[in-house]
Amino acid sequence: MSESAEPSLAAQASSTAEAARSVAGGLFVTFEGGDGAGKSTQADLLATWLEAQGYEVVRTRDPGGTPLGSAVRALLLHGDHVDQRAEALLYAADRAQNLAEVVRPALARGAVVVQDRYIDSSLAYQGAGRPLPSSEIRELNEWATEGLWPQLTVLLDVSPDLAARRRASAGQQADRLEREAAEFHHRVREGFLALAAAEPDRFLVLDAAQEVKELHTQILSRIATYLAA
Ligand code: TYD
Repeated sequence: MSESAEPSLAAQASSTAEAARSVAGGLFVTFEGGDGAGKSTQADLLATWLEAQGYEVVRTRDPGGTPLGSAVRALLLHGDHVDQRAEALLYAADRAQNLAEVVRPALARGAVVVQDRYIDSSLAYQGAGRPLPSSEIRELNEWATEGLWPQLTVLLDVSPDLAARRRASAGQQADRLEREAAEFHHRVREGFLALAAAEPDRFLVLDAAQEVKELHTQILSRIATYLAA
């Protein structure tokens, strides 16, 4: 092999590495937890890491991942009182739109979708938090999403007290849900933990009081098992 052939082979190898890597059928990862658990921080770190590995990553969120969803989000979080059934329907409507517009097309391309919140949030907030039967919330959301569940859900478990302190120290204004009583947030937390206990294969439960870096490392070691396949 002539010396001059080496650079071109090297260039070829690096251009292959730069091409977007895909996952057969896509990979859908969601982040769940109480308000102030640090979901967005960890979801962003994971997305950045995946991109650096060459994967196509789609970052999105419930509620508000689409233009329609942004309008729904504003109604849900900053409006006046919302009836609990209307609330459940609005979250499900936002989710259906995001799935059709963003998530399904991305998964079909083999992308990794990294999303803040999904059906588990409705089960925890509207099901466990409100006096609505969880079975009905589940049925409504399975209809809205045609039964699409993530392969991996990272639950950042946080005590409502720590979450409230974090919000206060960040100077954040509480939204309509965050203004709910402490008992509501305790029921939500228990709701999330019960969902995780029922589906240990889908959930990775982490103590959100840990350092950002430490949490990120644990998430990466779990995600590796989905990418290796
Ligand atoms: P989010 O923007 O994730 O809030 P934060 O970043 O503060 O955690 O979610 C907005 C609020 O909506 C949050 O209080 C949780 C609530 N919520 C529900 O009650 N049901 C749902 O299905 C979803 C997706 C969110």
